Formats: sequence, structure tokens, C-alpha cells
Amino acid sequence: MAPSETERFWDERARENALFFVDDRLDYSAPNSEAFWRGGDEALDQILSPLETTVSSGDTIVDIGCGVGRMTRALASRAARVIAVDVSSEMLIRAREHNSELENVEWIHGDGTTLRPLLDESVDGCFSHVVFQHLPDPEMTLGYVREMGRILRPGGWAAFVVSTDPEIHRLPLLDRGRARLRTLARRPQQAKDHSAWRGSSVDLDALRRAAHDARLDVERLLEPGSQFTLILCRRRP
Ligand SMILES: C[S@@+](CC[C@H](N)C(=O)[O-])C[C@H]1O[C@@H](n2cnc3c(N)ncnc32)[C@H](O)[C@@H]1O
Repeated sequence: MAPSETERFWDERARENALFFVDDRLDYSAPNSEAFWRGGDEALDQILSPLETTVSSGDTIVDIGCGVGRMTRALASRAARVIAVDVSSEMLIRAREHNSELENVEWIHGDGTTLRPLLDESVDGCFSHVVFQHLPDPEMTLGYVREMGRILRPGGWAAFVVSTDPEIHRLPLLDRGRARLRTLARRPQQAKDHSAWRGSSVDLDALRRAAHDARLDVERLLEPGSQFTLILCRRRP
């Protein structure tokens, strides 16, 4: 799938119901925005604590796939500066609106595969939450891992979530016919049958190789074989 198609998919989701498609545990018809924003801090702790990592007050952190800025807001309250990247310009419009009071955040429209225009060895930390599991091709996730190795300063860290459970990304044969019917009927959640939502899992050996090539050591890897595998990498000197 071309990056432009990924962008079109997420732009449509942002227009349709941005909060729900960022956190689909919310009620589609009436997403609770208070719970949504509170969830950013909670999710940040749920990722960083088991990985035994903290954001320091002087850090510059990159939030990959920032959506409407739920995790960005939580990161911005702990770091000196956050660079929030997303492929969807419609998500970014809403992120700026919702977070207009944040003075230490830079919003960047990414190309969907790289972290350009960020410079080599320019940031202290990289973070990504429920993004890579939606990428239709695991090579895109591995590309982002290499990019994290490029932009992190030596000693910098990357904390992120990937899916390592191939099963959850498969659409059962029976459902394929239903998916077409839902598309015809334009049901609100038809998007979940799209490959840009269903995403892909990554192979952990391939991830370790990509990390190694990008001068990253995989320091921690929790919940392998699940949709929410937590990974901590450290940039070698
Ligand atoms: C489920 S939302 C998660 C948003 C945010 N990380 C959070 O947890 O609140 C997934 C986000 O990833 C973005 N995204 C999808 N594919 C991307 C890609 N190839 N590169 C960058 N962002 C991408 C989408 O536009 C969307 O904003």
C-alpha cells in the first residue's frame, strides 16, 4: 500500500471520528473525551514502567504516529520538547486544535515511511504507541526502527509497541464476504476491515536484525507473541 493511501485512510478516520479511531475502546457514538485524554498519561506509564524507562525534563522526544496528540500531551508534560509526527494531515489539524496551549511541541507531517526531516543523532528518545500494529507491511515498521537508530543520539532510547501476533491481523475467509457487504452498506466501522487498520505483525528476529543494523541494542522485550509487544532499544555509542 502506498503511503498516500495510508494517509487517505487515516485522514478519513480523522474526519469520521478521530477520538474513536485513536482509541477504539471508546463509545463510537459518544466518545468520552475526558477519559480519552486521561488515557494518554495512563498508557505512557503502562509502557515506560515495565520497560524501566523514564522521560527526563531536559529530553527531546519524538512521538511517531501522534494522532490527535494524546500521547504527545503526556510526553510534553515530562520532556523539554516533543516532536510529534503523523502521516495524516487531518489528524495533525485536530492535534494542533486540541493542544494549542502546548508550547514545547512541534507537529510534523511525515511521509509515512521515514522520520525526515529530523536530523541524525538529534533526539534523546523515540516513542510510539498503537501505530506500528496498523502498518499494512512489516517492512514499514522495520524502516521506522532503522530511522529511530538514525535520529537517536548515542545512549538515547526508543520505547515502542509492535504486534508480534500474526493471527489478529488475518481476516477470516467468512468475514471477507461480510466485509464487502459492510463496505456497500457504509456501516460506520467498515474501516476496521481495511488493511490500513488491520495492519501486520513483525517477526522478532527481523526486528532484532533491523535494530542491530541501525546501531540499536534491544534492551527489553516484553509480551512476545501478543498484539502489544513492548520494546526498549538503546542507541549504541
Ligand atoms: C490508533 S492511532 C494512535 C495515535 C497515538 N499514537 C495515540 O496512541 O494516541 C494511529 C495513528 O498512526 C498514524 N499512522 C498510521 N500510519 C502511519 C505511518 N505510516 N506513519 C506515521 N503515522 C502513521 C495514524 O494517522 C494515526 O494518527
